Amino acid sequence: MYASVLQRSGPTEPLHHQRVAVPLPGPDEVLIQVYAASLDRVDNYIRQGSHGMAVATPQTLGRDMAGVVTAVGANVRGFRAGDEVLALGSAAHAQYALAPYWHTLPKPPRWSFAEAAALPTAGRTAFDAIANITGLRSGERVLVVAASGAVGSFALQLGVHLGAEVYATAGQDWKRQTACSLGARAALNHYSADLVDEIRAAAGGAEMDVIIDPIGGELWERLLSVLAPGGRIVTCGVTAGARGSLHLGRLMTKGWHIHGIGRPGREEIAAHLRGCLDLMVAADQRPIVDRTFPLAEATAAHRYLEESNFFGRVVLTGAEESSPAP
Ligand SMILES: NC(=O)c1ccc[n+]([C@@H]2O[C@H](COP(=O)([O-])OP(=O)(O)OC[C@H]3O[C@@H](n4cnc5c(N)ncnc54)[C@H](OP(=O)(O)O)[C@@H]3O)[C@@H](O)[C@H]2O)c1
Repeated sequence: MYASVLQRSGPTEPLHHQRVAVPLPGPDEVLIQVYAASLDRVDNYIRQGSHGMAVATPQTLGRDMAGVVTAVGANVRGFRAGDEVLALGSAAHAQYALAPYWHTLPKPPRWSFAEAAALPTAGRTAFDAIANITGLRSGERVLVVAASGAVGSFALQLGVHLGAEVYATAGQDWKRQTACSLGARAALNHYSADLVDEIRAAAGGAEMDVIIDPIGGELWERLLSVLAPGGRIVTCGVTAGARGSLHLGRLMTKGWHIHGIGRPGREEIAAHLRGCLDLMVAADQRPIVDRTFPLAEATAAHRYLEESNFFGRVVLTGAEESSPAP
């Protein structure tokens, strides 16, 4: 089969579209013919060797996939060859990849494979932040930072479905318009020096009950200025930087709840995947796929991700290429 292989990490290093052996499923694994695999920001960090994400090479990147089961291990329950699935596995930027059966789910019939591949990492993170950690309730105000990103777009869709009053931030006009078309009350520019005043004005002077922040950096402290007393904020990414400062006096008097997304275990991840999928289907929402690239053009897909001119997920498609059944 073909895979997109990282031979060496570095800011300008390409991916290599090359032949590798089809993996064999272990007892708890399903082997999936990958029709679509999303490109995650973490894949990009690994390729670049940034954000402390250096890995041993050569390595095939990618965790999120959707496709058709072609073989299952002896312990696998609930799946058999021919099933259409989405999964959180490993080495997904390939024509075949493995996933543990507990992180594999049936693909909703009405979703494309690209839409299904968009869900696992970003969807489960957004679900954990918005539905689990903060327990967002109908009628509450939530600020979704970087709503054009993969996590942000899921958080926006889930927040709207849960009946919250959703405010979004995004760095470009067209992204802010898209956020509003998806149900945000207002969308503000997170690069604006006046962001805090603009959020307050958009919310009629009200503060946010919940903030979902995948960006971090210096923005974090400014976000706290619009967090209501007793409000909840979740850091689920540090794209813009890992350091932010906190006025402990304000924390004391405001009674904020400050959360990190943490590192959930196997059972929790399975529950978050299922929870996100069920909410999206109940809401008749689909994951947002900005653009697909053929697997062979993974390097171009990475460049596209780096330019940040997208909304939702960037997805690689690959199984259509000649790939002998294992
Ligand atoms: N811990 C976990 O389990 C977990 C899971 C998933 C993701 N994450 C993390 O969450 C973060 C977001 O992931 P994602 O997949 O949603 O990212 P993404 O799809 O790549 O979206 C990132 C968006 O953030 C905006 N942005 C704002 N400030 C930025 C900056 N300084 N540099 C680059 N982009 C900036 C950009 O849009 P604008 O044009 O609007 O600025 C960009 O398109 C990543 O750091 C990722 O590693 C963590």
